Amino acid sequence: MSASRVFSRTLVSMAVATAAAFSGAAHAQFDQMYAPVAPPKSIDLGKVELGKKLYFDPRLSKSGFISCNSCHNLSMGGTDNIKTSIGDKWQQGPINSPTVLNSSLNLAQFWDGRAPDLKAQAGGPIANPGEMAFSHTLAIDMLASIPAYVREFKLVFGKDKPDIDQVTEAIAEFEKTLVTPNSKFDQYLLGHKEALNKDELAGYKLFNESGCVACHNGPNLGGNSFQKMGVVEAYKGNKEGVEGRSAVSGKAIDRFNFKVPTLRNVELTYPYFHDGASDTLAQAVDVMGRLQLGKTFTKQENAQVVAFLKTLTGEQPIFRLPILPPSSDSTPRPTPFK
Ligand code: HEC
Ligand code: HEC
Repeated sequence: MSASRVFSRTLVSMAVATAAAFSGAAHAQFDQMYAPVAPPKSIDLGKVELGKKLYFDPRLSKSGFISCNSCHNLSMGGTDNIKTSIGDKWQQGPINSPTVLNSSLNLAQFWDGRAPDLKAQAGGPIANPGEMAFSHTLAIDMLASIPAYVREFKLVFGKDKPDIDQVTEAIAEFEKTLVTPNSKFDQYLLGHKEALNKDELAGYKLFNESGCVACHNGPNLGGNSFQKMGVVEAYKGNKEGVEGRSAVSGKAIDRFNFKVPTLRNVELTYPYFHDGASDTLAQAVDVMGRLQLGKTFTKQENAQVVAFLKTLTGEQPIFRLPILPPSSDSTPRPTPFK
């Protein structure tokens, strides 16, 4: 049995035992399993501004049409709100696009955690034929052909020529600013107990005492472990080719283990699960209860858990849309239909 599997079982039984021990008592004992989202610390503003431009620049794709923001739309909770993403030439992607909001708090990036951090992640989509379908060389040629970009890279990194390392570093720095503090739940954690109403509190209690907390804990209510999708009952959406953590570890026992997604802003990040199969939070909560914990919530309980989950919507990042420097006469032109 893998360590994460043992970890998950142990945590689930711990959570249930704790719930039993405290039953009747207030649920405040669970508060320490979570933490409020903090605003970003020590950010390099020059890198952030450059990274923001790159994040929104569709010229980093072969079609000249797809930017990071196409699939991680910051007007829509940092996702695309479709089951699986659409990439170059309208290709259907294999997996649901996770939110970029608070992704700096995750232990690793991607559903299977194959990128250790945001910088390592950011180079992936540009060169992925099913996403932006470009190459790092072409991306750098494009940037180097635009004098205003060359000047800005030089100002920020002090080097004569942009390279992919600088590109991914700037994007990652921008992504660190995409945190969402001050949700109702965070206000509650910070001592304003009245921030949650009766139903939301009842949902919080159910979330803890049913054992959701075993996997969805920490500041991101997830993002800090890999767990099996379908602990008690198999998940119908699990299929060959998208097998989660085993693709990275090479271990059969990690099949269908996925990074536990953050539940922050989950109200905005529908549809749910790695295949985007659940359209609504009510559905997702029902699936989680039955498959992960062997628990069927009543309609009222389900609505209360959903009410709690909606208290995790934080303040969305606010900034001016970046104005991108125009292409020069020598900038290679997009080839969307080739
Ligand atoms: C065509 C759609 C598409 C584009 C364009 C795209 N992404 Fe993604 N992104 C995805 C999908 C789908 C995943 C999940 C892939 C997986 O886990 O295998 C993902 C995963 C991520 C993650 C990991 C989040 C987590 O919690 O695991 C981050 C961060 C991210 N993308 C940032 C970016 C950045 C930065 C860019 C631009 C350079 C970008 N994406 C471009 C679709 C896209
Ligand atoms: C054993 C660990 C575990 C437990 C317990 C658990 N979850 Fe999850 N949760 C996961 C994993 C893993 C995923 C991602 C599964 C996938 O996409 O295939 C997930 C996904 C979700 C999602 C979808 C998020 C998204 O962005 O796609 C929601 C909502 C959710 N869980 C809520 C809950 C609730 C509510 C409970 C308690 C009833 C719960 N979870 C219990 C591990 C767990």
